[in-house]
Parts: sequence; structure tokens; C-alpha cells
Amino acid sequence: MAPAPSFDGSSRVHAEAWAALGRSDLEPSTCWDFPDQGSRGLRLGDPAFNGVTPVGCVVNLVRRYTRPGDLVLDPMSGSGTVLDVTTSLGRRVAAFDLVPRRRDIARADARLCPVRSGVVALVIVDSPYSDNVVYGGGDGCLGRIPCREPRFYEEMDRVAVEAHRVLRPNGVLAWVISDEYRRSTYTPTGFRMFDVLARRFRPIDTVVLVRHHDRSASPMWEHRARRFNFFLRGFKFLFIMRKEKEWNRNGETTGTRG
Ligand SMILES: C[S@@+](CC[C@H](N)C(=O)[O-])C[C@H]1O[C@@H](n2cnc3c(N)ncnc32)[C@H](O)[C@@H]1O
Repeated sequence: MAPAPSFDGSSRVHAEAWAALGRSDLEPSTCWDFPDQGSRGLRLGDPAFNGVTPVGCVVNLVRRYTRPGDLVLDPMSGSGTVLDVTTSLGRRVAAFDLVPRRRDIARADARLCPVRSGVVALVIVDSPYSDNVVYGGGDGCLGRIPCREPRFYEEMDRVAVEAHRVLRPNGVLAWVISDEYRRSTYTPTGFRMFDVLARRFRPIDTVVLVRHHDRSASPMWEHRARRFNFFLRGFKFLFIMRKEKEWNRNGETTGTRG
């Protein structure tokens, strides 16, 4: 096969090598667009679960930020996508939820995880975004608190404190959240959560996760959005941040990095 031309017109890299590079399933940019949840009939979470995390999102995080044998924590496991993907990739996983839906998910409040301090390589949180989905779990459920209220961010901060405690130095926190538009009011939940998290973690990057399979992605809602001049949520935020020993939110790291 002929070598592929490089930018200056010469040919140094063989076409097979270019093709092999292109075959990686790691997302190269900050826009991750998975057409569906991605289980493809495998037991990787439950595509029917309301608020399920895309498989491709978890694969990218686990492969980028952990090695085989590392421990991953999902304190809000839902249908268990993180648990299934992480195990398939040869990592260890601690999976909790206030309402465990499977036997391999233990009951715990994300604000108080039964995990030792400083041992986790990656924490993945796909939290409730507001009070729009009923998850059960009584008063402890963070999906009962509207994102319009300061209490939402105070309680999410307690989850962030717990993530910070269990992460090892240089460990990574990945947090999925969406904005809300409800009763003619826009709440920039993503920006507010970024602010909460950046008090404790050094931001690595922000990824846009394109939304496809929401219940609002229907011709009826699309018609209403045009007719009444509002926008449907087209993406979620994925914040990727690192635990550093002494993080100063003004952007300086003081002390030794772990
Ligand atoms: C968006 S869903 C997670 C989806 C999951 N990643 C999946 O792929 O199926 C949010 C989860 O947070 C859980 N949750 C809400 N409040 C919680 C709390 N205080 N502690 C632990 N889990 C909580 C809910 O029960 C729900 O399963």
C-alpha cells in the first residue's frame, strides 16, 4: 500500500499506519458524540435506565486515566454502566447507589462512601441534574433537590469532598451534569457545578457529551421548542479534573504534587 502523504507533500508514513491510528476508539477531541448508549446487546449497564451513561464515555475515561488493576469508584451507579465497563477492561471497581438495582452494587450514600482514603485512581459521577427524574431512595436522594436551589450545589459539594478523600494523589474525577430549562427558566447547572468542583480539583478539560436518546428528543418537543422559542438540551457537560495535593483555585498549585 502506498505511503500516505504528509502535510508538506512528502510521504513518510505508510497508509496502514494511518489506518491503524484512525482505528482507536479513544476520542481525540472535546466533543463526544455517541449515537446511542452503546451496549450493543452486551451487559454494560441498562440502555433503558433513565439517565444511563454512554458506554463509550466510560471506556474513554477508564482507558485514559487508569491502568489494569487500578480501582475505579462509581458512587451513583444507577444501572451499573461504570461497573460493567470497568470490569470488562480489567480494572477493579467499587459501585454504590442509594437505591442499588443489582446485587453487585452496594447501598451507600455518595456523601459517605465505605472506601479507604487515597486508594482510588478514578471516580466517575453521573449525578442527578435536578429534581426532574424520580430515582427513589427517600430524602437522601440528591435527585429530589431542584438545581435552582443553593442546597443542590452544597450537597453535590459533599459528594465532591468524598471523591477527593478517596482519590489517590493525582487521581482523576469525571463528573457528568446537564443544564436545565424548565418553566421558562434557564439554570446553568453546568457552570455552577464547574465552580463547585474547581474549588477542590484542578480542571484537566471539559467535554461536551452530545445527547441523543432523551425523552425530549421527539418531534412533539422539537415542535414546541420552535413554536415557543426555547431550546432543548443538546449536550451534557463532562468535567475532568485532577486531585492535586494543594490546589489553589486561583490556578496555582502549592506544595509537592503527589
Ligand atoms: C444519572 S443516574 C446514574 C446513571 C448510571 N451511571 C448508569 O449508567 O446507569 C444517578 C443515580 O444517582 C443515585 N443517587 C441519587 N442520590 C444519591 C445519593 N445520595 N447517594 C448515592 N446515589 C444517589 C440515583 O439512585 C441514580 O441511580
